[in-house]
Amino acid sequence: MLVGDKNYQSIWLDESDPSVIKAIDQQKLPFSFEICELRSVEDIYSAIKDMTVRGAPLIGAAGAFAIYLATLEMNSATDPVHHLENAARYIISCRPTAVNLSRAVNYVMGKIKDKSSVKSLSETALAAAMEICEKEKENCRKIGIIGLPLIEEISKIKKGKPVNILTHCNAGWLACIDYGTVTAPVYLAQKEKIPVHVWVDETRPRNQGARLTAWELGESGISHTLIADNTGGHLMQHGMVDIVLVGCDRATRRGDVANKIGTYLKALAAYDNKIPFYSVFPSSSFDLGISDGITEIPVEERDPDEVTTISGISGRDIINVRICPEKTPAVNYGFDVTPAKYITGLITERGICRADEEEIKKMFSDKFQ
Ligand code: MRU
Repeated sequence: MLVGDKNYQSIWLDESDPSVIKAIDQQKLPFSFEICELRSVEDIYSAIKDMTVRGAPLIGAAGAFAIYLATLEMNSATDPVHHLENAARYIISCRPTAVNLSRAVNYVMGKIKDKSSVKSLSETALAAAMEICEKEKENCRKIGIIGLPLIEEISKIKKGKPVNILTHCNAGWLACIDYGTVTAPVYLAQKEKIPVHVWVDETRPRNQGARLTAWELGESGISHTLIADNTGGHLMQHGMVDIVLVGCDRATRRGDVANKIGTYLKALAAYDNKIPFYSVFPSSSFDLGISDGITEIPVEERDPDEVTTISGISGRDIINVRICPEKTPAVNYGFDVTPAKYITGLITERGICRADEEEIKKMFSDKFQ
């Protein structure tokens, strides 16, 4: 996507020095646009852990590049199998909820398992990581085309008045290498001159909505309004939301969806107000080996400091301030699970299906064991 007049992905290989992976530093946005350089498995681990890079498809791509960097860390004394398996385990352990991370790392590991020379290991791992990036970009592009008619239909019913879309967290191009999942149909609607307006949940505690989604939409000139997380229900009761589009970090075979904490409450409010609620994601976010999202999806628990503090800009510095008494205990669950019954449909690169096992199986029969 364009930032100013330059086209960016959220992660890429530095062509002038292929031992370096570059990524947009999402910790600095929207206050400054900075590129970070990732040169080792440890760099990638830290970047995923502290959310310099974040979003399900992006952490998958970063994990894939980590295996490539692991091959570059080998020397004549290295036991390749031990070294690469350790690197894979380490990276996968970084964040537990988005299945894209383990899927991408395991994909690269599968591709390199028969290679023996360091050169062929590196070349194959790099090709596999690049393939994942291209595939995710293509998935988002297709999701845009598949999701657009939903917005078109609402626009027709509203006789050209803006279609109000509510979203939570960031399922935009920063999270997905390019285009985004939720944002892909929105960009296409803008291109088709369909008036759209996006309600952006701030998404405490890390404020991905306020910091990232608002920035992305602003850069693309898409009309949007930031709201406090608890505002959505009120807007829905007053006819101010036409459709809810959220991302996904892991979806089960029966269509339960884990996404950023707070998504479930939006789904309940949408259900109560008969507002269509869609989860938008590439098939790399499916975990078809599990069924019950609430008991089977591991939910990341993060540092309580993210809840007791808030970060923002003061002058030129990004600062953290405490928002509660010094010793207040806090807990920080990163994700929640929205049960399939509250989801109108799943928008994927293959089409839109109901969130139920039979429908998912029909569309993704090749991915079911
Ligand atoms: O903790 P994050 O910021 O990595 O969580 C991300 C989300 O919940 C996104 O909405 C999700 O990954 C979908 S990204 C297309």
